[in-house]
Amino acid sequence: MKNIVVLVSGGGTNLQRIIDCIESGEITNAQISLVVADRECFGLERAAKHGIKTQLIPRGTLFSSKLSQILPENTDLIVLAGFLSILNKEFCESFKGKIINIHPALLPKFGGKGMWGHHVHDAVLEAGEKESGATVHYVTSGIDEGEIILQKSFPITENETAETLAQKIHQVEFEIFPKAINLVLNNY
Ligand code: GAR
Repeated sequence: MKNIVVLVSGGGTNLQRIIDCIESGEITNAQISLVVADRECFGLERAAKHGIKTQLIPRGTLFSSKLSQILPENTDLIVLAGFLSILNKEFCESFKGKIINIHPALLPKFGGKGMWGHHVHDAVLEAGEKESGATVHYVTSGIDEGEIILQKSFPITENETAETLAQKIHQVEFEIFPKAINLVLNNY
């Protein structure tokens, strides 16, 4: 059984999807051993409701070193599911190939510092893009620069807003995130 640690900062619908997929067997051979948040958020409540251990480490410069101190030794994969802090270089390098992130756009476009949540959707609309989507990628010390694992796009419609984009992107995320976790953990 592989052990996953999930990091969250917000509502945690992607975390919920991962929990549901583990319970339904869509994600196989895995369990969530810990959910860590960098602020009070609903994601923590979702985890607690399912009897998953939780920990709050306040965001800031010490986040990465505190995380490495409490990370269970048998952790196979660290999953960033709507996580807004930046993990430092040392942390990313010591867990190379073991950290994945979901990003609400078609990387390498619309990634990097400040590109999260509605900022991404606003930038995509502002640029007049014809499509958007979501990307699951490995985390390296370059923000949103790691190797892409899975990506899925959809066309942007004429009356698209940041809100409609966010909704559509969440649906795509719910589809590709469990697949990417299976790919990384179980090779399929
Ligand atoms: C997701 O759309 C995720 O891609 C995005 O935050 C949302 C979290 O939703 N992540 C980022 O913007 C990271 N750069 P959730 O808390 O409901 O899963």
